[in-house]
Amino acid sequence: MTKILFVCLGNICRSPMAEFVFKDMVKKRGLIDEFVIASAATSSEEVGNPVHRGTREKLKQVGISCIGKTAAQLQKSDYDRYDWLIGMDRQNLCDMRRLFDGDAQNKVRGLLDFTAHGGEIADPWYTGNFDVTYRDVVEGCEGLLDFLLRDQKG
Ligand code: 4NP
Repeated sequence: MTKILFVCLGNICRSPMAEFVFKDMVKKRGLIDEFVIASAATSSEEVGNPVHRGTREKLKQVGISCIGKTAAQLQKSDYDRYDWLIGMDRQNLCDMRRLFDGDAQNKVRGLLDFTAHGGEIADPWYTGNFDVTYRDVVEGCEGLLDFLLRDQKG
């Protein structure tokens, strides 16, 4: 069982998008029972709120539901609970390492670190562009899944 937590600032735009895209990918490959997949926020700003309409509508366009998801805040105990903690941008990584007093087990990664070009997932809360964020989230999730499948075979 591989446990993955996607993390962003508010847990209403990017990390829920990654959570539900990744769940869809592993479902389509018949691997859903081998994963625990969730998402959380570094801030308390949106705790309890539903997924942002822009993310919800983008996911709906591609046939993915995120119904029932509400924003939750990242806990220090999540470090032990998950195998991988995947941030969307450098600030998320910085905030996680602060909360976890570092990253002793090297579990904290950026989603786009799993692509050839790296970089950050743009925050549609500010850009208003959920299409670009979706495209990058899909690419990151594909890279992450390839990495994990290689990892588990090795
Ligand atoms: P997210 O976007 O981190 O992708 O969920 C944001 C959502 C809310 C806020 C910032 C970013 N906010 O400041 O409330």
